[in-house]
Amino acid sequence: MSSSLHLNISLLTPGHFRGSWRVAGNSPGDFVDPAHFRRLIRIAERGHLDAVFVGDSPALSGDIAHAPQLGLDPVVMLADAAAGTEHIGVIATGSSTYNDPYNLARRYLSLDHLTRGRAGWNVVTTQLPSASANFGYAEPPEKTERYRRADEFVEVVTALWNGWDTDAVVGDAASGRFADPGRIRGPRHHGEWFSVEGPLPLPRSPQGRPLLVQAGASEGGLALAGKYADLVFSAAQTVDVARTLREDIRARAAAHGRDPDRVKISTGLITVVGGTEEEARRREVELRETIPLEPALRQLAAQLGFDENALELDTVLRAGDLPQPASGAPRSAGFSASTHALLAEKPHTARELIHRFAGGAGHQLAVGTGEQIADRIEAWFRSGATDGFTIMPGEVGSGLEAFVEQVVPHLVARGLFRDEYTHRTLRGNLGLELAGTEDHADLDITVG
Ligand SMILES: Cc1cc2nc3c(=O)[nH]c(=O)nc-3n(C[C@H](O)[C@H](O)[C@H](O)COP(=O)(O)O)c2cc1C
Repeated sequence: MSSSLHLNISLLTPGHFRGSWRVAGNSPGDFVDPAHFRRLIRIAERGHLDAVFVGDSPALSGDIAHAPQLGLDPVVMLADAAAGTEHIGVIATGSSTYNDPYNLARRYLSLDHLTRGRAGWNVVTTQLPSASANFGYAEPPEKTERYRRADEFVEVVTALWNGWDTDAVVGDAASGRFADPGRIRGPRHHGEWFSVEGPLPLPRSPQGRPLLVQAGASEGGLALAGKYADLVFSAAQTVDVARTLREDIRARAAAHGRDPDRVKISTGLITVVGGTEEEARRREVELRETIPLEPALRQLAAQLGFDENALELDTVLRAGDLPQPASGAPRSAGFSASTHALLAEKPHTARELIHRFAGGAGHQLAVGTGEQIADRIEAWFRSGATDGFTIMPGEVGSGLEAFVEQVVPHLVARGLFRDEYTHRTLRGNLGLELAGTEDHADLDITVG
């Protein structure tokens, strides 16, 4: 067990039950409403959570006929929402397949400065096939190729972020010397995919550089995580899947000469909280009824590697029924492994899986009182399965607040979670060293 539990929360709107915009209290326009996100991030900070997390896809994804999809650019949205907050981290997803490293490095380091050292980049390779058509590709690049590009992409981005020494800004008003150009270096990178001279026009941020987050669980994703990631999102339905993934990533980090305790694992957990168990169950049923079943069935089939129309709602699925993932198939290895483990424990009908996945991609679902959900979090954390959770409210408009008010106090009372912030940077909150500043413990870039 690592020393302290970490909790992030997803701002996915309207929630991980994608149809929950229909539930009372929500508005169809929430997903583009700045006031909605400003309100949520303040509540998350009131609960002393480590960070808010925002996913992204550079394409119209999913079933827009029935629910809003990932919409606002997460960096732009978080720059606005975080204004006025002081401690909570902001993690934005960005694709390494459909971006250029220089622009992305500058954008995220800007967010890191604007939040005074609280930004993170969730590196994804974007499996959504339709994204490729927005970037001039005849067809989506293969997964292995996407991860090869991701490796070089992250190498260039971190080199850009590390380009300024901590003492590069001199700021000596008397002599007029502003910065020491000898302490500012570009990566001068010329590789398979990218040629980037650099440097960036920005110094290090108060946390050294943005946090690197990774969410893929295929071989390429795990390799990337072991080499670079500070935080890894995992999708796990069972403790064993989560623990195996955590051990694997820690071993890979160690093989790169990194301290495994400096890589935190955060497991996805969809939550539906109620004042009583009965109320939570009622809420779950209400949310379930918003799932458009036919599209959800087609999505489930595709995600499991079947033909889109191969499943009926009452089809019973066993682990052995799942098609082997073809290399290059647009499926998530993390979700596949976790679903396989779930079905190996117990066969489920397609309808049960749709309910269990909240109509979505395959994260585990916890329905209950604050105390019951705290029990689950505590058990997983103490078993060494994870360092924390990325909470994914079933319906975010009221569910984020319910988590903060009804679950967090139990975790605090059990000594598992903080009741006040002790740091101002995201790395500090996560118990990680300020990157690149090992010799400069009190990094503070001030001018004049
Ligand atoms: C918790 C979690 C969150 C993710 N969020 C995103 C996202 O916002 N955008 C995206 O394109 N992919 C997202 N992914 C997908 C992965 O990062 C990865 O690109 C995908 O799973 C395919 O790679 P894999 O087979 O290595 O898992 C997420 C995956 C997980 C487990």
